[in-house]
Amino acid sequence: MTDTSIRVGLLVDGDPTAEQRAAEAWIGARDGAAVEVVSFEALAAGQALAPPASPEPGDADGSRSLGESYPGAGVGDGAGRFDVLWWHRDRPLGGANPLADAAPAVEAFLAAGGGLCLSLYAFAAVDALSVESVPPDRVGDDALGEPTGVLWRSLHADHPALDALDGLRHPLRRRGTVPGVRYERVLPRAGEPLASTVRGDTAVPEEVTVVSWPAGDGAVLGVGAPVLFAEPPTDGHTEHDPRLDAARDRLFAGCLRSLASPEAVPSRPESADDMRRLRERVDEAGEDGPGGRPAYHLTAPANWLNDPNGLIRWNGRYHVFYQYNPGGPYHNSIHWGHAVSDDLVTWRDEPVALAPSPDGPDRDGCWSGCAVDDDGTATLLYTGGAGRDQLPCLATTDDPGLRSWEKYEGNPVIEAPPADLGVLETDAWRAEFRDHNVWREDGTWYHLVGTGLSDGGGAALLYTADDLREWTYEGPLLTGGPDAGAVWECPELLDLGDRRLFHVSDYENVVYFLGTLEDGELVVDSEGLLDHGDFYAPQSLDDGDRTLTWGWLPEARDVADQWDAGWSGALSLPRVIELGDDGGLRQRPAEEVTDLRTEQIADHRDVRLDAGDRRRLDAAGATIEIDAEIALDDAEAVELSVFETPDRAEHTPIRYERDGTLTVDRAPSSGDSESFTDPQSMSVPPYDEPLSLRVFVDRSVVEIYANGRHCLTSRVYPTREDAVDVSAVAEGGRASLTRLTAWRLDGLMEPSQNSP
Ligand code: FRU
Repeated sequence: MTDTSIRVGLLVDGDPTAEQRAAEAWIGARDGAAVEVVSFEALAAGQALAPPASPEPGDADGSRSLGESYPGAGVGDGAGRFDVLWWHRDRPLGGANPLADAAPAVEAFLAAGGGLCLSLYAFAAVDALSVESVPPDRVGDDALGEPTGVLWRSLHADHPALDALDGLRHPLRRRGTVPGVRYERVLPRAGEPLASTVRGDTAVPEEVTVVSWPAGDGAVLGVGAPVLFAEPPTDGHTEHDPRLDAARDRLFAGCLRSLASPEAVPSRPESADDMRRLRERVDEAGEDGPGGRPAYHLTAPANWLNDPNGLIRWNGRYHVFYQYNPGGPYHNSIHWGHAVSDDLVTWRDEPVALAPSPDGPDRDGCWSGCAVDDDGTATLLYTGGAGRDQLPCLATTDDPGLRSWEKYEGNPVIEAPPADLGVLETDAWRAEFRDHNVWREDGTWYHLVGTGLSDGGGAALLYTADDLREWTYEGPLLTGGPDAGAVWECPELLDLGDRRLFHVSDYENVVYFLGTLEDGELVVDSEGLLDHGDFYAPQSLDDGDRTLTWGWLPEARDVADQWDAGWSGALSLPRVIELGDDGGLRQRPAEEVTDLRTEQIADHRDVRLDAGDRRRLDAAGATIEIDAEIALDDAEAVELSVFETPDRAEHTPIRYERDGTLTVDRAPSSGDSESFTDPQSMSVPPYDEPLSLRVFVDRSVVEIYANGRHCLTSRVYPTREDAVDVSAVAEGGRASLTRLTAWRLDGLMEPSQNSP
């Protein structure tokens, strides 16, 4: 389908506005396109419409209604005499929604394969059709201060709208007051977001302006970005920019074209198969070399991932849910994504498990929470966000695969935070009160909620219950005091035998406390950080004989790079957390991780490192594991470098110094100046033993376990394909690699059924 064969019915309610006339003239002037103005009354009355201006041979009688098919039409088969109905409304809708009255006729038109384009304020009326229940939540005028337009999703870069354009960012208007209709706090329930907003040089992913829906054999496209055709008023400020007009022409012609070929209309991925295809699309787009998407760390199939949630072993299978935004690689409108594994080694993407309910207490997001076994019923407790409230909600399932969940109609299960506690209020939130850790002990349910106190510091609040729907507040389990982070997110209390491990995420770090539980309060003996790098909001499950913990590995590159990549966020490897004989914390990757090894690529013993003499090790790769023991001998430091290019223009040194400091220096990691370059360090006692290291290198992840106790995970973004070498050097004396073994590791997603 090309412009030359598109027949557009321009919908109007009342007298056409100057903008609608300009739109009519614009489409009419496109090579060979035909346009005719159609009133909603005619549509609603189901009336036969007048013949098109230049009838196709088969249209000659001119007496058919929109939904009827025109066998001789040759284009848009089955869609009647228009390929596309276009409602372009530049004024607010007011009370009445003309689309509601015309809905049956429009639905018949869509069912027969027609396309409907709703632009500007008309986008706000999409819920009048049975295709969508959640309309755009931001409907108003914008006073533009800089060129503003669409920020297209890389996932949909092959959409016809971009056929004649380069790149993902397309400003459409520079100045003036223009309609701005979009999804901001919510996402469409059924539609697939195609584009957000670019304003000047800034990507604004959370302003979603273009959405598509398959409907019947046809499709609907909503465009709330400033696509305007009338000359802007010349008030002295408004300058006309032919480049923006050219972008508009190409983009919008592509949008209309997409509607005339419904197979080009992306739909919202729903099934497990859709999720697998989504992952494959991102994989096909590249990012499978150094700096790209991790191969053996869990990621979402595409889009955004943050905290691991609802970790549970159910019917023998491991379920990992995670904070997920299906709208793109940015944090907003959070759903629960889902992956499942029998063995912790091979994972399968599952459909989205929880989505915000348009009228529920989780309208703006289903935030972090946990899963428990309530006497045989899998049950989630999670934070619902709505307006300025964040409150605990409950969902249950009897689906053995834990795919579909039913939300409790009495949600939220706690109406408000404890009244007399002085819970922190901010501009955004009536009370910082979120994230849930629930466990059963001696017949009682215990529940921790993260919070902050207005007189300073994060806190974890303890509730108890006999029934997961009725909680009694007991008091704080622990408060951080004025020197602690303002809010404690994602608190979790783990029973490690002799002692309890309690951890919280304080916006920066994951702080852990070891101690004992006495009368509902934690008596702390020691504290530290669970990981010293890019690791946040961990959660754990007890699989019978061990505690397995996953954390979120946030990106360390800017929003625009994440947008272009189409994905954001990974989970750490599953870590076994336990107490050592000395009562201190031990952390190591789950044994199953060794099953990811495909090939041993290095086995060095007793390699002598002379001062300044760099040794390249035959352990090259972007997805490898290194297991090494390093003795400093009389050296001041040893540097093990990964992700190294042959000319060392890019390399990521892991440096171990005599004082026991281990540092990942990210300054030389990447030629890309937009990624974070601050060094990340930790102290790794005991100092008097050789350093034992396990280093997991996975494209943009370096996950380090030192001495079986200390973890440091860094996100780095080498840009060069040849950034795969590994080398070692001693400084200020001699050192030795008593042992260094390396393996190549495989990906962990279940292979596609269709692959050979
Ligand atoms: C931690 C966190 C939680 C919240 C969730 C929202 O990263 O901020 O406190 O529930 O993410 O996605």
